[in-house]
Amino acid sequence: MERHTSALALVLASKPDLPVHCVRPHAAEKAADWFVRRFPGDVLYAVKANPHPAVIDAVCRAGVSWFDVASLPEIKLVAERRPEATLAFMHPVKSRAAIRAAYFEYGVRIFAVDTAEELAKLLAETDNAKDLHIIVRLAVASDYAQHKLERKFGAEGAEAVLLLREARRAAEELGVSFHVGSQCMRPDAWRLAMTAVGSTIRKAGVTVDIVDVGGGFPCAYPGLTPPPMEDYVREIETAFEAMPVLENADLWCEPGRALCAEAGSHVVRVELRKRDALYLNDGGYGALFDAAHGGLVFPARLLREAGGPRRPLAPFRLYGPTCDSIDAMAGPFMLPADVSEGDYIEIGQTGAYGAALAGGFNGFGVYREAVLEDAPFASAYAAPQADSLSAYGQHID
Ligand SMILES: Cc1ncc(COP(=O)(O)O)c(C=O)c1O
Repeated sequence: MERHTSALALVLASKPDLPVHCVRPHAAEKAADWFVRRFPGDVLYAVKANPHPAVIDAVCRAGVSWFDVASLPEIKLVAERRPEATLAFMHPVKSRAAIRAAYFEYGVRIFAVDTAEELAKLLAETDNAKDLHIIVRLAVASDYAQHKLERKFGAEGAEAVLLLREARRAAEELGVSFHVGSQCMRPDAWRLAMTAVGSTIRKAGVTVDIVDVGGGFPCAYPGLTPPPMEDYVREIETAFEAMPVLENADLWCEPGRALCAEAGSHVVRVELRKRDALYLNDGGYGALFDAAHGGLVFPARLLREAGGPRRPLAPFRLYGPTCDSIDAMAGPFMLPADVSEGDYIEIGQTGAYGAALAGGFNGFGVYREAVLEDAPFASAYAAPQADSLSAYGQHID
């Protein structure tokens, strides 16, 4: 893959016609290293957030060797690249063929379920295997998350109690998992979830070997500055110790966004300016999906050679390249007031659910790729910790 010292160096060297998916593997390595050292349990990387091989290699260099995978292609990707990895198939709804291939071809032993039907499917497709680690996904509130996941997955109430008992009978190891929602802005969301999960385990009267506190750990975006990551880990550790129903359980987490968001940015070109609206060559059907459909504002900076006059920043709306009018990003994205057609912009913190979500609608969604060596826009793992977004939207000069 091509390598540059910065996005500006990339633009000056080649004036790219395609949008560029930029990866800063060192940022993913730093984030993963932080989690490996500071999280008081095992860290599984949620591959869906960014399956780029450079990111997978980076988290491995930091010591992550367990992966949360959600599909057979993700299993293949990690198993082929990292044969030593332990894979956990954490999607609560899987095809029969995927279960069979995961178990018999790839040696996967860890599976999530959230219904009795899925448990039955899992047992049938593994020929009633006796070495399964079954993780029961429980529904919890996701009130403090930017992206709520609560309605789609998770057992609750009496069904959860029965499922835990049934899974206990079938499992070599029994786990519970939950997800407080992605980009969760409040560390105490985990305490509330773990209290609720503890009460369900007590009602079921089962011994639990694994508590998986999911993903949801946030990244800093303009207007969304989360508390320090230490606060999240402290809250989880305290809540885990306070769960009276556990004796020797292991603690796991499955961060996606927190390990890779800072490790990605996108270089896009302004194809047209209409007053405060910039029409770009990437957008809501591409790597900027979350800006169009998830209400996120990404930091942005103009990539111009040093030396020109500095202009004040102004708020801009962005439009993606497709013909669909929902391919629109309200922002506001703060950029120098004289930004114009032909300018390049680096959009930062797009490493999570960025290129991973990009589709090919309207013939777009084709990227160049590059490794960048400079620092990400902001980092929760750098010392001193970046706590301000004030550097966003400035000239690189
Ligand atoms: C089961 C599971 N684990 C982990 C994650 C990663 O979440 P995040 O990127 O918010 O850390 C997800 C995201 O959808 C998920 O569904």
